Amino acid sequence: MKSKSAKRIGIFGFGCVGQGLHDVLQDNPHLEVARICVRDREKLRTLPNDTFTYDPQELLQDESISLFAELISDPKEALQIVRQALEAGKTIVSANKKMISENLPELVALQQEFGGTLLYEAAVCGSIPILRTLEAYYGTEPLQEVSGILNGSSNYILTKLDAEGLSYDEALAQAQALGFAEADPTLDVGGYDALHKISLVAAHAFGAVIKPEQVLRAGIQHITKRDINLAQALGGRFRLVASAKVNKNNKLALQVLPTLVFPDSDLYYVEAEFNGVHLQAKYAGDQFLKGRGAGSHPTGSAVWADVSAALAGYKYNYPKFTYDCEERLKQVPLEEEDELKVYLRTAMPELLPQLPWRELTSFGVDANVGQLVGTMRRKDLLLYLPSLKQTTAFIAQLPAHVTAEQVVNASCQVLEEVA
Ligand SMILES: NC(=O)c1ccc[n+]([C@@H]2O[C@H](COP(=O)([O-])OP(=O)(O)OC[C@H]3O[C@@H](n4cnc5c(N)ncnc54)[C@H](OP(=O)(O)O)[C@@H]3O)[C@@H](O)[C@H]2O)c1
Repeated sequence: MKSKSAKRIGIFGFGCVGQGLHDVLQDNPHLEVARICVRDREKLRTLPNDTFTYDPQELLQDESISLFAELISDPKEALQIVRQALEAGKTIVSANKKMISENLPELVALQQEFGGTLLYEAAVCGSIPILRTLEAYYGTEPLQEVSGILNGSSNYILTKLDAEGLSYDEALAQAQALGFAEADPTLDVGGYDALHKISLVAAHAFGAVIKPEQVLRAGIQHITKRDINLAQALGGRFRLVASAKVNKNNKLALQVLPTLVFPDSDLYYVEAEFNGVHLQAKYAGDQFLKGRGAGSHPTGSAVWADVSAALAGYKYNYPKFTYDCEERLKQVPLEEEDELKVYLRTAMPELLPQLPWRELTSFGVDANVGQLVGTMRRKDLLLYLPSLKQTTAFIAQLPAHVTAEQVVNASCQVLEEVA
């Protein structure tokens, strides 16, 4: 039963997240769903027809609606909706990480100019309250690192490969059947989704506005059983880890890379569709948050939390943004000179020696598969990674303590076991 003073909310989208929000709002007597805007007139719905509209303007121009939830799967249309709501000084909650991360400066400026509010906790790690933690709790304390498993679909696939020995295609099909991965999984397994999320994290944790090409990014789509077995022989697991880390010279290093993690890391224990985020703060030290990173009700819960916070007057302050004397946002310097130790396997081993390795140990198994442990400067990897990825190479970061010798020995052990 809704209270007489219930606020009216307009919802855009009635898919996985929109339906999740609708369900959790049944527990909230202070919010009444006005209408839901969707696209497909032919689709069978679980609610009466008159709940829906197909015209976004019916919601955006309805003066009785005081706030919106934008939960559609079309980033271009989502941007139009969020822009129009903010230009009208209204409150809108969104889950669209791609749209927000690609347009953040404009969306912040619109809030400053027209006084509206945009919150988007659900866009990063589903039910884990990471943005609110960064904003409200670590708004003043310097952070040294935020890193984690931010994409549930990739983590589900990696877990199944590792724990159950499924093939990549089997694990992907299972993730799609369970609704953890899209029909086109490129955004997830290619690391783009994690990139959008770490970009938003970098804005709130470090005041950095990032362009996608500034982030070192590789996905998990070329991983094979050979790589999984190698990780196990070394006592670790591959996980797709996104990180933003301040180096000693105060520059920010950004990446989304498959990474070998060991039992001494909290990330080792993040399994299936779960997400986990590790924070390192200057004075508070280390913290770890783990929870459901996607799914209908967990994401709906995060949208609900934002809606409730916005109704209570909460806004993001972007406390780490700094401005020059002409009020332009200052750029955070990015790290490009540091060296990363990587494991790489490719079906085109003839390419490998041509790259600018600082150190290199190659140990291919046959003429068609080249493997190596090497170190390369970040800026060289940024340059060469796109062409390496076209050769179906699998690349992963190794922790500094893992030696080339250990990897070669583990590889021999795997070969002996197969033989
Ligand atoms: N799924 C998750 O676990 C999750 C987690 C975090 C964030 N997100 C984000 O949340 C958003 C929604 O994801 P989802 O998984 O709920 O997507 P989904 O299940 O594919 O549902 C998308 C909804 O958007 C509607 N829609 C698409 N284009 C539209 C347009 N131009 N105008 C009006 N409605 C339109 C669709 O309408 P029809 O019903 O008519 O097709 C559908 O109801 C995305 O930005 C996604 O990245 C999702």
